[in-house]
Amino acid sequence: NKSVLLDGYGRRINYLRISVTDRCNLRCMYCMPQEGIPKRAHHDIMTLEELQEVAVALVELGIDKIRITGGEPLVRKGIVGLVRELSKCEGLNEITLTTNGLLLSEYARELKAAGLKRVNISLDTLNPQKFEYITRGGSLEKVLEGIKEAQSVGLTPIKLNTVLIGGFNDDEIEDFVALTVDNEIDVRFIELMPIGQAAGWSLEKFISSDSVLKKVPSLEKIKSEDISSPAEYYRIPGALGKVGLINPITCKFCENCNRIRLTSDGKLKLCLHSDSEIDLAGPLRRGEDIRGIVLDEIKNKPREHSLEDGEYIKRDMFKIGG
Ligand code: GTP
Ligand code: 5AD
Ligand code: SF4
Repeated sequence: NKSVLLDGYGRRINYLRISVTDRCNLRCMYCMPQEGIPKRAHHDIMTLEELQEVAVALVELGIDKIRITGGEPLVRKGIVGLVRELSKCEGLNEITLTTNGLLLSEYARELKAAGLKRVNISLDTLNPQKFEYITRGGSLEKVLEGIKEAQSVGLTPIKLNTVLIGGFNDDEIEDFVALTVDNEIDVRFIELMPIGQAAGWSLEKFISSDSVLKKVPSLEKIKSEDISSPAEYYRIPGALGKVGLINPITCKFCENCNRIRLTSDGKLKLCLHSDSEIDLAGPLRRGEDIRGIVLDEIKNKPREHSLEDGEYIKRDMFKIGG
């Protein structure tokens, strides 16, 4: 008999996103500063055991789906072990992971064996030189290898997350859509958010996801299977995969939002677009009951949020994991 976690608006909160690290093995221009990020004090970062302890408490309260994010989650040592421990957790239906794919060819098999269900992979271009440019040195070949390996070990269905950047990859929209025709891969175009590094970017880089529909008029809208998903889905008639459009700016899915976030420094975030954070690391380390804190605080989850009025998120994206 699974408990149900409800927020102040009666929304059922069953999805936890855990950012296991701020660090990343890439430096995507819109996300990470060129020089990387300062190393954090050891004590600031939750151990994997602590993250697991919080996760277990939240599963007891009603979480049944966990996504592991970063930074880049696969650079955190012991990450496969965390997946393995979480997968023993009764009441949890699925554990998934969002990655840049660089280390996936190495880890896919172990992750699958540890109980990971599927992966979402961030990929903004299919051109090796452009990939190297936007990630400041990354290898596209390595990512493509990772995608193949993830498919062959069954971490499926795979979703690609492609951030739309005007003048950079809008000429590749058709190529990304074409991937969905013969492959069981969903491609989701995400509108660039004016946060972190991208906050000061010029307007022409921000293009609307409608431009995908303009470029590919044969896309047909399909009914969403999951009302809490941030994406609206379309399909090329007969294609194996879907095309998703994610508009995080207007955030139309807020009324069905089912998610909360845990950061690597042990803060609970009730909404991606809000700056308020609830410290769980301190209480956990003092042996206090964090379940009580969460039950109290969950009532304060904001009803909705948009970035339309020039608002921005203070915490960088690599600290939240999307
Ligand atoms: P699925 O379980 O496959 O549906 O994954 P997901 O879409 O929940 O996770 P993923 O990490 O692939 O997220 C894709 C993108 O959706 C993120 O990079 C964000 O841009 C956006 N997104 C995720 N959660 C939220 C949210 O709560 N609010 C807003 N506005 N955008 C979000
Ligand atoms: N706007 C939109 N998406 C972003 N991501 C990181 N920064 C931004 C931004 N400014 C995306 C990554 C990845 C996901 C976790 O967040 O590309 O797909
Ligand atoms: Fe790393 Fe993802 Fe940020 Fe790129 S967008 S620097 S892969 S965390």
